[in-house]
Amino acid sequence: MSDILCMYYSRTGNTKKAMEEIAQALGAETVEIRDGVERSGWKGWLRCGMDAMRKTTQPLLPFQTERPLSDYRLVILGTPVWAGRCSSVMRTFLKEHGGQLRAAAYVTTRASGGKFQEVYDQMDLYVPGGHRAAVSLRSGSVGYAFWQEEFLRQVREILGEV
Ligand SMILES: Cc1cc2nc3c(=O)[nH]c(=O)nc-3n(C[C@H](O)[C@H](O)[C@H](O)COP(=O)(O)O)c2cc1C
Repeated sequence: MSDILCMYYSRTGNTKKAMEEIAQALGAETVEIRDGVERSGWKGWLRCGMDAMRKTTQPLLPFQTERPLSDYRLVILGTPVWAGRCSSVMRTFLKEHGGQLRAAAYVTTRASGGKFQEVYDQMDLYVPGGHRAAVSLRSGSVGYAFWQEEFLRQVREILGEV
């Protein structure tokens, strides 16, 4: 049973891929979260954009972790960037459970050139200790593998001291 949890939301698979690779490298447990909202297609895209801009949240569908959230040494949270913010699904998770995390790290995925590092500060509002490491990945970009590896290096360093 791992004491590192990779928890993520992914609408179109980019964040899922990044988190599965990270989890495999760390031997971590992975858990995907969703809410009950239909988010596929162009209507879903619009809904996601509106939810992100308005910071509206909907209840999550039930999910299960092997340990209570507060027992993990590190919880790595993965989310796409939506309209310069974290996805509203991840926002719901953070609102409901952010206070239970002993140590957190963030993985964001995005489509454009900017890194949207302000998303980390937004997520920190829900996590009392803030984040210990973070990375912003752009699928298919030249630096993708480099930054993912650099994130893993930071996480391994943290795990030596957490
Ligand atoms: C509603 C919506 C808003 C988005 N806004 C941004 C944005 O502000 N900046 C950006 O770089 N990418 C933006 N994207 C693109 C996603 O962040 C990117 O494709 C991400 O990797 C998708 O992750 P996923 O496949 O795990 O859902 C947006 C996507 C959606 C659906």
